[in-house]
Amino acid sequence: MHGTEDLELNRRDLMAGASACAVAVACPSSAWAASGDASGPVMSKVSLTVNGTAHEIDIDTRTTLLDAVREHLHLTGAKKGCDHGQCGACTMIVDGRRINSCLTLAVMHQGDTVTTIEGLGKPDELHPMQAAFIKHDGYQCGFCTPGQICSGIAVLDEIKAGIPSHVAADLTATASFTTDEIRERMSGNICRCGAYSNIVDAMSEVAGRQA
Ligand code: FES
Ligand code: FES
Repeated sequence: MHGTEDLELNRRDLMAGASACAVAVACPSSAWAASGDASGPVMSKVSLTVNGTAHEIDIDTRTTLLDAVREHLHLTGAKKGCDHGQCGACTMIVDGRRINSCLTLAVMHQGDTVTTIEGLGKPDELHPMQAAFIKHDGYQCGFCTPGQICSGIAVLDEIKAGIPSHVAADLTATASFTTDEIRERMSGNICRCGAYSNIVDAMSEVAGRQA
């Protein structure tokens, strides 16, 4: 029989062992070796084309794409809502696909082409999706809007490309611009102001049909 003290010790040992294993799995030995001085950040040069302009930035390898664009390139259109991949406010279009830029490291995008809300249109020459959001009142405070618009453009491209979604009744049939499809595909973009129905109207207009 073990005493309570032994059991406590064993529990602590178990926790320490599990933590060590988790760190070992998360950080392969090559990463430790490459890091050199464990007290300092590991820097890396990253080349990105953002909104048509080529950039080379020297950044800490732990920097997310969102922070690289906001803090290093000073393009603050994409927002940091949750920083956990749960709200979609940070959505950017990377090589034609929408991504949550808070969930991906900038060093994973060497040579990629990134589009943020700043690269879509200008005040006197708006992208059709931007114009539709204004026409249909698809925002209130506007915090989620850059992500909604980037996501909305990519969603229409996904539907056009025939990529099925969870609401597709037939995975082999051509996807169509239905309200259900738009709502399902935009479900990762949260709007605290609740502008959802107007966002669907705006996207439906751009897609060429009224919901
Ligand atoms: Fe990236 Fe919320 S800030 S998903
Ligand atoms: Fe305010 Fe969407 S418009 S959060």
